[in-house]
Amino acid sequence: MDTAPHPTATAAPAPGPTADALGVPAARARSAVLEELIRADPGRFRVLTGDRPTGRLHLGHYFGTLHNRVRLQDLGVETFVVIADYQVLTDRDVADDPAGHVEELMLDYLATGIDPARSTIFTHSAVPALNQLLLPFLGLVSVAELERNPTVKDEIAHSRQSSVSGLMFTYPAHQAADILFCKANLVPVGRDQLPHLEVTRTVARRFNDRYGAGTAVLPRPEALLSSAPLLLGTDGAKMGKSRGNAIALAADADETARLIRGARTDAERHITYDPATRPEVSSLLLLASLCRGGTPEEIASGIGGGGAAALKRTVTEAVNEHLAPLRARRAQYARDRGQLRRILRDGNARAAAVADATLAEVRAAMGNDY
Ligand code: TRP
Repeated sequence: MDTAPHPTATAAPAPGPTADALGVPAARARSAVLEELIRADPGRFRVLTGDRPTGRLHLGHYFGTLHNRVRLQDLGVETFVVIADYQVLTDRDVADDPAGHVEELMLDYLATGIDPARSTIFTHSAVPALNQLLLPFLGLVSVAELERNPTVKDEIAHSRQSSVSGLMFTYPAHQAADILFCKANLVPVGRDQLPHLEVTRTVARRFNDRYGAGTAVLPRPEALLSSAPLLLGTDGAKMGKSRGNAIALAADADETARLIRGARTDAERHITYDPATRPEVSSLLLLASLCRGGTPEEIASGIGGGGAAALKRTVTEAVNEHLAPLRARRAQYARDRGQLRRILRDGNARAAAVADATLAEVRAAMGNDY
């Protein structure tokens, strides 16, 4: 996949904290340098990334992050993927059907091409030593710092919960444990995660200063900002899991065709790529371009006066063709739930061994090795 910034299919400013508040410009510049370093020597990097298990991922996730993880894995970067089954408790009182959501997420990962022979997929709740790191890490951040986190503030503002839990404020320190337990030095993230990465870097720096006696016990990981294209949902608003406008990665060819057929377009028959004035049509063109290559403009001129119906046919064909191998892989894994469970158990065991080793170093550095 190319790494040039994708055009975005909307002119509207992104909601939530501003790019500057999140530290986007600096992260973007550094990410370009990191891409060069990764290509030159993938062996010096270790990636940790992950998701909250909240349901099926959609095409926005796929082109935004999943695809990029597989690219890094395939370049030879060692990869850990956390299924954040504790962090998910920040925005709900009870996790409904955690096992089902974990399974769905694993199928999304495996379908996309995360290879369990090369990458470690694990869940928070099965790695005790990772969770124990949270306690010393919490001692390294101030309440004021936790309260200032722009992503946490945004999540609280949009929360449907009647009260804010302690986990909501402290999960960025827990996320530092996700990243540092395996000494990851590279974290591919979207812009909303940059503040959390800053917490991780702060924790690592303070830990080393306070307990390291001149050595870097913990690395200071860097963000690799993914140039996520902004795909709109079928209703023209941002594609979102809970908005009823997403095309799930797990959707079959017929459902995908139906969703795209029902997508909002506009009355102009001649198809052109113009994200500012024609966001819905442009997002569909962008989707086709991501699936089959070529620029959105080229795809638009191929359709010309064919109107929305021809546009939708083109997009459906492009999506279904691109997803065919992913669907085949998903079906293969979905047939054997025992194998899925084994993959997760293996991943959890590998992650637990790595976490035990890091915790032992942390305890030794802190003088707790008795
Ligand atoms: N906070 C991430 C999200 O909401 C999920 C996540 C948990 C994560 N632990 C992580 C991402 C560690 C990167 C690194 O999507």
